[in-house]
Amino acid sequence: MAEYVVEFGKDGRRIEPDGRLDAAAFHRNHLPIREVLLRRFAGKTGDVVEAGSGTGQHAVDFARHMPDITWWPSDLNEQHLRSIDAWRAHADLPNIRSPLRIDLSDPAWCPEMQDGRGPKKLLAVFCANVVHIAPWRVTEGLFAGAGRYLGADGQLLLYGPFKRDGKHTAVSNAVFDTSLREGNPEWGVRDIADLERLAGSAGLALAEIAEMPANNLILVFVRKPGD
Ligand SMILES: C[S@@+](CC[C@H](N)C(=O)[O-])C[C@H]1O[C@@H](n2cnc3c(N)ncnc32)[C@H](O)[C@@H]1O
Repeated sequence: MAEYVVEFGKDGRRIEPDGRLDAAAFHRNHLPIREVLLRRFAGKTGDVVEAGSGTGQHAVDFARHMPDITWWPSDLNEQHLRSIDAWRAHADLPNIRSPLRIDLSDPAWCPEMQDGRGPKKLLAVFCANVVHIAPWRVTEGLFAGAGRYLGADGQLLLYGPFKRDGKHTAVSNAVFDTSLREGNPEWGVRDIADLERLAGSAGLALAEIAEMPANNLILVFVRKPGD
């Protein structure tokens, strides 16, 4: 069954003196995720916001392997923000920015984009393992903000477990879903059809479903033609 950590640093794993946290799942999933991002971003430059970066390890890995892209990690949790900044300092890469403090439940979750302190129109928003471990309003805000901030050829990429046509794609995901809902009734594995409806109201449409190990998927949403 998939594991989840709501708050890194409280899961018994080592915390580096500079505040760097380590997510066990990062070591299992970053390579297959990176391959999809490399393909989707091939030949492109621009700004990518990682929504809900957690420890910051993904943002640093992607920045290292996609040097033509500027990465903007983000989170809501103070300890996670410290970890992201510590990983950023440790990596010492020119193309990763200080983490943005964002609340994805706000449809205007990146005010820095309006006041010039943040990125310009985005090449992409990448979000891993957030929408099932947060209330539905966080998913609503994520899509609304993506619709607002993505450029004309922008992409919203969601990684995690998802239901297809109301059904789990694996027994282990069904068990995981039950454990999530027991922990918090507002959480749960999301159905792709519900996400497509949200995408539609944000001017986006599902363009690709990439299969990932351990019954995870990457869903790629792009702007609807004509929007
Ligand atoms: C399970 S962790 C995943 C972290 C990271 N993306 C990864 O895959 O390792 C979920 C993250 O979403 C963040 N998060 C939860 N609700 C949020 C919100 N409303 N706005 C921004 N971040 C949020 C949490 O603080 C946490 O870092």
